[in-house]
Amino acid sequence: MKAMKMWNNRMSCVLLLATLMSIRAEIPALRQQGTATQLVVDGRPFLILGGEFGNSTAASVPRLQIGCKKAQALGLNTILVPVYWDLIEPQAEQFDFHLVDEALQSAFEHGLKLVLLWFGSWKNSMSCYAPLWIKEDYKQYPRAETESGKMMEMLSTFNRNNLAADQRAFVQLMRHLAEHDIHQTVIMVQVENEIGMLGSAREYGPEADKAYLSAVPETFIRYLSHNKQTLHPSLHRLWKAQGFKTTGNWPEIFGNDVFAQEVFMAYHYGMYVQKIAQAGKITYPIPLYVNAALNSRDRKPGEYPGAGPLAHLIDVWRAAAPAIDFIAPDIYDPGFAGWCAQYQAAGNPLFIPEIRLAESNAVHALYAFGEHDAMGFSPFSIEDIDQPEQHPLAKSYRILQQLSPLLVRIQGKQKTKGVLLDNTQKQQEIVLNGYKFTFSHGYTLPWENPKHKGSWEETGALLIALSDTEYLIAGTGIAVTFENTDKKGFTTGIGYVDEVEFINGKMHVVQRLSGDQTHQGRHLRIPVGAWSIQYVKLYDYQ
Ligand code: DGJ
Repeated sequence: MKAMKMWNNRMSCVLLLATLMSIRAEIPALRQQGTATQLVVDGRPFLILGGEFGNSTAASVPRLQIGCKKAQALGLNTILVPVYWDLIEPQAEQFDFHLVDEALQSAFEHGLKLVLLWFGSWKNSMSCYAPLWIKEDYKQYPRAETESGKMMEMLSTFNRNNLAADQRAFVQLMRHLAEHDIHQTVIMVQVENEIGMLGSAREYGPEADKAYLSAVPETFIRYLSHNKQTLHPSLHRLWKAQGFKTTGNWPEIFGNDVFAQEVFMAYHYGMYVQKIAQAGKITYPIPLYVNAALNSRDRKPGEYPGAGPLAHLIDVWRAAAPAIDFIAPDIYDPGFAGWCAQYQAAGNPLFIPEIRLAESNAVHALYAFGEHDAMGFSPFSIEDIDQPEQHPLAKSYRILQQLSPLLVRIQGKQKTKGVLLDNTQKQQEIVLNGYKFTFSHGYTLPWENPKHKGSWEETGALLIALSDTEYLIAGTGIAVTFENTDKKGFTTGIGYVDEVEFINGKMHVVQRLSGDQTHQGRHLRIPVGAWSIQYVKLYDYQ
């Protein structure tokens, strides 16, 4: 009788959710177009022109509202906002979603979409967002332990109570969204934040040690065997060094150095996240991803937050956490183009949920969308920008917003490229569609601003092929020349150049650019500090 009643209650809950979901706009989803993975929002592919709020901004309603206002002034279409476990579940199983509701409301009122960041068991490796009732009850909710037995302020990955508590809170969050996000403001959810082991390459202690010496799960072995040819080289190397064994415990299959231990930890972090993500998706099937602090500056696992969703661990995360749709880099280190290339690999789409706030974000955004079919771009602590309308990011996002309808149509079809220039790379050659485009930094022109003697600001562009002889070049601080790579003996001339703008996806000419603006037909140019979209019609002669 009791079981019957529970079943009935459960069914009416499922039916209520199903009804709510059927009357609302389509739930965001991912879809494949050519080589690109696109995020579909309100039935249409969507490019995230985003910004992430500082960690504590969404804990104050007035500050959240000021942040949304700034985001709107910057031309963002999406903000990334944390959900704090300790504030939504201050007492065990007593939930309070008023801050989430404020974020939904404020984002909606400012015409913004939301990506919610689940600050649950881990935030930058640590567990500072675990509620106090978890922190204090450390016997029930144990911490990770180093080899010397030191307890860290990090929940153990190997403990069932930790997982169950996080999973229950996450499911409540997803249920809350399913029931209350009637405008479909939330478009994705990030599970945890910058997971990774610090202070030690792996966890120690009875549960962790037992797992380490247990057989590597069958599912992982099957994944390795099926994907042997395409495994990331570093994982392939570890497995190969142990003779590609298919049975055995973790040290037997991968060895026992810190990199092998990192694989063990990544798989267990992945399984923990999988259980949270899977339960969340059953409740509300929205795209989910995880983000990573990067393994830069020659550090080893444990020196950098090891075992997180790093590019070299993509296979491990995929095998352990199939409910996670993709992995994403937080870029605070030099080498922007290299990080992008590492993360848009093996079918993983590029979404940059965080990048250090800087004026160069503006050209980096163009590059990410042009070179890597990015799904989105989002500098960190966006609300710290003074005078948002004047910031270069606002200019770049204005261009990207105009080009979005075109970009989403051609993503994944190899019709776009990205350019980044500075005083270490003054020139870049791109071959696209039978033409070679030589992009030079604006300061290579003798008549550009004399401040070029100091350090050169990064400049860049997004190149789009419209047809064999028609191209769009959008950006700042570049001069471009053209050469036909297919027709031997021909010279390429500029037919004409127009500055253009796009309104509702339709191209309009602002003005013809010629004379000094094209160096009398020698090049297409956008001066340093100026931002525009230019259309060029090429022709060939001999
Ligand atoms: C990366 C984290 O993901 C953010 O939440 C924030 O802590 C920044 N680092 C740096 O402040």
